Amino acid sequence: MTASPDTLTLLRELEPTVETNLNRHLATAKEWFPHEYVPWSEGSDFDGVLGGQAWDPEQSRLPEVARTSLIVNLLTEDNLPSYHHEIATTFGRDGAWGTWVHRWTAEEGRHGIAIRDYLVTTRAVDPVALERARMQHMAGGFTNGNDGVLSSLAYVSFQELATRVAHRNTGKVSGDPICDQLLAKVAADENLHMLFYRNLLSAAFELAPDATMRAVCDVVKDFQMPGHTIENFGRKSVQIAMAGIYDLRIHHDEVVTPVLRQLRVLDREGFSGEGEKAREELVEFMTGLDTAASRFEAKREAALARVKSRA
Ligand SMILES: [Fe+2]
Ligand SMILES: [Fe+2]
Repeated sequence: MTASPDTLTLLRELEPTVETNLNRHLATAKEWFPHEYVPWSEGSDFDGVLGGQAWDPEQSRLPEVARTSLIVNLLTEDNLPSYHHEIATTFGRDGAWGTWVHRWTAEEGRHGIAIRDYLVTTRAVDPVALERARMQHMAGGFTNGNDGVLSSLAYVSFQELATRVAHRNTGKVSGDPICDQLLAKVAADENLHMLFYRNLLSAAFELAPDATMRAVCDVVKDFQMPGHTIENFGRKSVQIAMAGIYDLRIHHDEVVTPVLRQLRVLDREGFSGEGEKAREELVEFMTGLDTAASRFEAKREAALARVKSRA
């Protein structure tokens, strides 16, 4: 069994990879402006202080499930101060790590701004309910539950890709080209974030193969979306899954599997018994996830058929 390096050693040894990927990120990420994506001409005053028109669900042209998904995605983005805390305390605020932590935080901040401006301007959501939900969600804070550098790197690699897919598919389901365009832009940022973390995770596999395999295995096994503490998340995520925005099949095929494949988790060598054991556990879990995904798809198909026949 190979000992896993301590946190400070790991951070120091990964730092050159952080620097390379930070530079790659800065060269690739294109500057963009949220205000250019919001149809301001559709906006008007609300009731209350300015005495405008009260919000009413009829004012939105978006399907209900798209609005639910947008709210979940926005509340998820809103918890940024907690995410910043998590990565700043894990990765530190010095050197290349610190530059990344701050830059990432600034980019994520843009997502909440852009989505909120869009939703409020187009009256797609009840602004009072949204604000109360934001207060409630943020007041609860967020801990990713994955202690240590390796688990955190594993978690964010999957989480960034999961949010990318969730934003992208929400845009498609919205039926609104303006919404779709905005969420495609946000999704492109999440993809670059995923690349950064996945490359770091790949470097971690070289430095500490057994410990990294264990971290990946554990994170995949109890993965939860970053917004899972949102009020009524269970009910909302069922709606989102039924609409095919984010479901077990997508999670298995489009999020976990591609990251594992890129990391060459199945054919990588150099593990001792501990790493092999974690890999076997992971493979077994993925098989079960695939089965559960197929079961869900069959149930969804049957439920949709019932609705159709009733109509
Ligand atoms: Fe984001
Ligand atoms: Fe992101």
